[in-house]
Amino acid sequence: MARACGKIILLGEHAVVYGFPAIAAGIERGAEARAWPSTASRLVVGDHTARPDDGSELGRAYRALLEALDVHDVAVEVSLELPPGCGLGASASVAVATARAVLQATGASEPDQARLLAAAQAWEGIFHGNPSGIDATTAALGGCLRFVRGRGAEPLCLGQALAIAVAIAGPPASTRAMVEAVARLRKTRPSHVEDIFQGIARLVDRAREPLASGAFDLLGQLMDQNQDFLVELGVSTPAMDEACADARKAGALGAKLTGSGGGGAIIALVEPPVEPVLSAWKARGLACFVTVVSAPSAP
Ligand code: PMV
Repeated sequence: MARACGKIILLGEHAVVYGFPAIAAGIERGAEARAWPSTASRLVVGDHTARPDDGSELGRAYRALLEALDVHDVAVEVSLELPPGCGLGASASVAVATARAVLQATGASEPDQARLLAAAQAWEGIFHGNPSGIDATTAALGGCLRFVRGRGAEPLCLGQALAIAVAIAGPPASTRAMVEAVARLRKTRPSHVEDIFQGIARLVDRAREPLASGAFDLLGQLMDQNQDFLVELGVSTPAMDEACADARKAGALGAKLTGSGGGGAIIALVEPPVEPVLSAWKARGLACFVTVVSAPSAP
């Protein structure tokens, strides 16, 4: 059995596609995969079954993953603990858990991180077109990390565990479509979008200290400011804005969407008790849960 975590993006989505830094964290919920040698190669994820040559998107992603691992003739069954398309890294967690299970089933002696990441990136490329790699990297490494496209991840030390409340504030959206929408805006208003990306990058830089010291009031403010930038980019929705406002009113230190936006999940940084935030969301009929991000503390 192999596992991979899901993810939240604390700061920096979209800007990360263009080489700016972002901060993400693995969450406990993710995907679990089991693989065994079989000449009838297939991938089963919940109700969906795909074969490498069936032409479906899932089948093509599975094929790309197997090709990157240089493995044939393997069957995989995955159970997913996250809603897909909601910015919680469901796709990348399926990819990483699948790749791990395949490597186990084929007797790979040591987990080869680079090979695993290359396989997950090949998979993500089918679904997302232009993935920065932050989802696959976070699914593979977990913990809290700073990520820069092409340069990889730097683990970040947390002074204290982060309690994050997550709400699904709307139906899933296509990451590909949202990333393309930002690309179009960047084409029509390059300096405006560059200013937004620079602003987001400054928030990422300022987050290192409060993450390390546990000064989460400041971290919450940085998340709120990031949400303002995401609204300016046009990737938030009224339902996401309302869910963020609900969380802040109920005592959250900060709230923002996570992932590509257009629907799906928002996250709120909470200090216990978390119930007021969850109750506010439940009163709106939103599905929600709490996750804790812990990471090794500074030596
Ligand atoms: O796949 P999502 O919806 O969690 O979005 C990932 C973050 C983006 O920055 C929007 C895309 C990317 O590849 O970095």
